[in-house]
Amino acid sequence: MEIEITPLKSIDGEITVPGDKSISHRALIFGSLANGQTKVYNFLTSEDTLATLNILKSLGVDIRQTDSNELIINGEGLHSFCEPLDVLNAKNSGTTIRLIMGVLAAQDFYTVITGDDSLRKRPMKRVIEPLSKMGGRFYGRKSGNYAPITILGSKNISSITYHSPVASAQVKSAILINALYANGVTTVIEPYKSRDHTERMLRYLGANILEKENIVNLEGPAYNLYGKELFVPGDISSASFFLVASLITKNSSILIKNVGINPTRIGILKVLKMMGANIEIMNERILNNEPVADLLVKSSKLTAVEIKGEMIPTLIDEIPILAVAATQAEGKTVVKDAKELRVKETDRIKAITDELRRIGINIIEKEDGFEINGKQKIKGNCICESYNDHRVAMSLAIAGLIAENPIKIKNFECVNISYPNFLETLNSLI
Ligand code: S3P
Repeated sequence: MEIEITPLKSIDGEITVPGDKSISHRALIFGSLANGQTKVYNFLTSEDTLATLNILKSLGVDIRQTDSNELIINGEGLHSFCEPLDVLNAKNSGTTIRLIMGVLAAQDFYTVITGDDSLRKRPMKRVIEPLSKMGGRFYGRKSGNYAPITILGSKNISSITYHSPVASAQVKSAILINALYANGVTTVIEPYKSRDHTERMLRYLGANILEKENIVNLEGPAYNLYGKELFVPGDISSASFFLVASLITKNSSILIKNVGINPTRIGILKVLKMMGANIEIMNERILNNEPVADLLVKSSKLTAVEIKGEMIPTLIDEIPILAVAATQAEGKTVVKDAKELRVKETDRIKAITDELRRIGINIIEKEDGFEINGKQKIKGNCICESYNDHRVAMSLAIAGLIAENPIKIKNFECVNISYPNFLETLNSLI
């Protein structure tokens, strides 16, 4: 589906954004590993999370969708899974394939897991290496790095101390999930702290897990996980498109309610505030170990920033939309240390530089980021590629709001990966 975005003057209103994608995946997986019933509210129903849901069903878990955004999972504990009849398909979802590998490595059966064209090109060794050390056996394409991956799980999982070369919550979570089955304490040490939804949810459900800065310790075996009610906060990654939309359009004001503001995810808020954004964080509260707030955002004059180092994991998914904000900021915005963007749903450094250039922006591509001189005009009048990457597609749509001419975006249905109602929400603000 190709869409056309026409420039507009201002946006205004109150919205909610869909449930957090990372937390929705974890609710499904941990609810399945726990004993008893888990009720999930404000679950994100999207292509990525449905991939996780369908895989868990194929592994024999009783999961029922009771409403569009509500689920009941009848968990029967760590050893309740059965060998699936067919190949498991994680579709476009890195979180699905990597976290589920943590589960499968500890099952005494044979599985094959694959994904779509994009996922089959993404590196899996980062997960396979630690999980193999813990006892599972893995076979994949190109020396074991790429899906489809065959997994021969083990009944005897060993605890480990693992220094992860990348700050990746998917890697950390796969190890911690596998460690639920191990005897003793597993330790994961990251170069910088990545998002900690796994740690928070596992602790909430009863696991013995401790975090200190970039080090996590989990004591297994975790037979003491019990199902509970889980409320999924709104996804700050989805909210960020509307934060930037409101900032860069004139006379705009948006209230976004119930957004997750986990400290490992709020790099976008910190950077936008450093850029001069008028964002008020209101009504802060804690829901099942996750902080939540309402965000009031108003049009602002932005100035350039440098984004690098330990900030990067806290805003990794928001860099495409930050690039759009940077086109309107006074001065040169520099993004570095973000090489991980090259192994996301698409090579996001290349995608964002190519497509911003197409709409009229001067941007310099670097190996680990990019540089943008601000205060540029977005000319539009072109057809953009989305590369089937949801975050690239939505970032370009927001850029289109302030273009001089309409822009078209190809394959816009890819927003169904994380934000099926994106256009409806945008239209409600016009
Ligand atoms: C995610 C972790 C991040 C993020 C992805 C979701 C998660 O990936 O980019 O969208 O839910 O654990 P990495 O672990 O590759 O950094």
